[in-house]
Amino acid sequence: MKLSQILFSQGFGTRKQCASLIASGVVTIDGATCANAEQAFATDGLTFTVLGEAWPFHAMAYLMLNKPAGFECSHKPKHWPSVYSLLPAPLRDRPTKSAVSGVQAIGRLDQDTTGLLILSDDGQLIHRMASPKHHVPKVYEVTTAREIRHEQIAQLIDGVVLNDDPLPVKAKACERVDSTHLRLTLTEGKYHQVKRMVAAVGNHVESLHRSQIGGLRLPADLAEGAWRWLSAEELAAASINT
Ligand code: URA
Repeated sequence: MKLSQILFSQGFGTRKQCASLIASGVVTIDGATCANAEQAFATDGLTFTVLGEAWPFHAMAYLMLNKPAGFECSHKPKHWPSVYSLLPAPLRDRPTKSAVSGVQAIGRLDQDTTGLLILSDDGQLIHRMASPKHHVPKVYEVTTAREIRHEQIAQLIDGVVLNDDPLPVKAKACERVDSTHLRLTLTEGKYHQVKRMVAAVGNHVESLHRSQIGGLRLPADLAEGAWRWLSAEELAAASINT
């Protein structure tokens, strides 16, 4: 792939901006400056640097982010900063691929929810994972305002009726970790589902944290607000439909 196309595909600006970046001598590959925008490189395993910052080539972006509280999962946030502001500019500015512009969060979290968020610009993956047929279990650590009673756990597993759907929604698993800590596994992603299910059994969510998607756990060494590329194994684990 031509160097100008490589930079463009990775979100370093318009084709014209990428060509001028290259011509200005700030792009290096294997330690050597590449000022020729037309020069072609194999993209497999390629890392280039722009203004000294190394960037690994990824045909599609697959990332995980440890979402802090106080960020909205929206490109046009209303009251809080956007979760996308936690990503470097090239990830926000990747060109549109199969109707997906830049990376998108797959399965949003509320502004005040923390934890594991997966983002991608792979339209097929976003579509597949957002489909109601795709029952990837998601694990939430719930801190409740009041002591959790055993009958509340039974109700969450048997199913509770939420106001927008006559059919009860059930937790796939529900474990009382301690008196105010519930570990809840859901296979759907309805609006405010955890908060509404916990309210439906007469308790209240004080804080909410997503610790796992499919077989992918939020790594302990990924700080709040930090992101990293997903490996192929991690991506496969996160997509497992159990
Ligand atoms: N359920 C909620 O209520 N909020 C979230 O952010 C995620 C699941």
